[in-house]
Order: sequence, then structure tokens, then C-alpha cells
Amino acid sequence: MSESLEEQSLITNDKSNILLEAKNISHSFDYKLFENINLEIKSKESISIIGMSGSGKSTFLNILSSLLNPKSGEILYNSKNLYTLKKKDLLNIRREDFGIIFQAHYLFRGFSASDNLNIATLLSGENIDKDLLIKLNIDFVLNQSVGELSGGQQQRLSIARVLTKKPKIIFADEPTGNLDKDTAKIVMDTLFDYIHNNNAALVLVTHEEDLAKQCNHTYKLENLQLKELK
Ligand SMILES: Nc1ncnc2c1ncn2[C@@H]1O[C@H](COP(=O)(O)OP(=O)(O)OP(=O)(O)O)[C@@H](O)[C@H]1O
Ligand SMILES: [Mg+2]
Repeated sequence: MSESLEEQSLITNDKSNILLEAKNISHSFDYKLFENINLEIKSKESISIIGMSGSGKSTFLNILSSLLNPKSGEILYNSKNLYTLKKKDLLNIRREDFGIIFQAHYLFRGFSASDNLNIATLLSGENIDKDLLIKLNIDFVLNQSVGELSGGQQQRLSIARVLTKKPKIIFADEPTGNLDKDTAKIVMDTLFDYIHNNNAALVLVTHEEDLAKQCNHTYKLENLQLKELK
């Protein structure tokens, strides 16, 4: 049954389920990247960020995901300012609640695929999800060392490792960058299923506009601003 207009506007205006909020974020390195950016991310919601190479997408994702203190502005996670938290509290959030999928994935290369997954289970107390590994088509590489895996297998393994710890927000920087179309679809379906089934949120950085538009909101980083495209 469709929601009444009144109910819809209540949902849209409801700020209680905001997980992460960026307020007036500005940052620069050699040149100014962005100025006074505001963004809200709610649970179960997916948002995507597109923009030219060098526009600052990865930098903005680092700021959102607790890794880089912005020149000015605040990042609120569950209404708490990430960058004024005690180091220990920030580390706990990063370890337990945030799942960060980097543009360059950081697996432990001398170790096997299953060792890399076991590290995530040790840190989080969660179990390895066999169905997830089958879905990502990496269940048969568990005993191989990371160095023996293809680039796409390594990427899927790093995504499985992140999901294994059951994060509340996934930050994914070009998670399908090395993958063929079919495998990219499997990865994106896995990420969308994950956020749906776990009341989690997704912040996706991508170059692919088609992929970006599958998210609830799509933004473009351009001329120092984040503009909503849809
Ligand atoms: N740690 C850093 N120190 C100095 N400059 C940096 C640093 N990180 C990024 N930059 C610069 O900031 C700019 C934006 O980089 P960023 O990685 O955020 O771009 P991007 O939009 O993710 O690009 P791409 O699409 O190529 O991944 C670039 O000019 C980059 O050289
Ligand atoms: Mg980048």
C-alpha cells in the first residue's frame, strides 16, 4: 500500500535516523578541493558521489570515514563529532561501525585468503558468512595466498573482509574499478543486499554514472560543491 503524502513528508523530514552528517566541510591540499559541503546519510540509505579525477572524491570519503580531519567543518556520527572524540572512542567506531573499502585494497599479502577473513572475525567477534563468499565467487580460493589471487579476486576478498565485521556504514571507493560488468553487478548487488538486510548505509564513490544512479541519492563533486543530481 502506498504511503499517504503526510506520511511521506514525515519520513522525509525525520532527522532521527540520520547516521552520519557532514556540516560545512572544507578542505584543500595544494588547491582548494571543496567548500562548505553539507550532507546527510540515513540508515538503509545509499548515496553515491561522482566527479572528475582529482576533484576530491577520495579525500571527501576519507573525511567522512574518520580518516582525515577536514580543514574546517564537522562530521557527526550518531550526533557525535568524530574529530573531537577521544582517540579510543574514534578507534572503536572505526573498528566496529565503519567498513571502509579503499580504492587500493589493503590485504595482508603474505597470508592466505582465509587468514585475511579470520582477522576480521577476530576483531569483530562475527562469523565468516559462507553464503557471502559463494555469492562473491571466492569461496574456492580460501586456501590460496593473497599474492596468488587475481586483482578482481583480491578486491572481492577485501569487500568480504569488510562485510564480515558487519559495519553500520560502508564507505566504498571505486569498489568495482577492477571488475568486468557481470562481476561488478554481483559486487554491487552484494553491497545493496547487505545494507538492506542490516539496516546499514552505503557511501559509494564511482566513475560510473549508471552505477551511481542505482543509489537513493547521487551527488556530483564539481566547482568546490557537492550537487545532488537526483
Ligand atoms: N594526502 C595528500 N597530500 C597532498 N595532496 C593530496 C593528498 N591526497 C590527495 N591529494 C590531492 O588532492 C586532489 C584530490 O585527490 P583525490 O584522491 O581526493 O581525488 P579523486 O576525486 O578521488 O580522484 P580519482 O577519481 O582519480 O580517484 C589531487 O590533486 C591529489 O593530488
Ligand atoms: Mg579517488
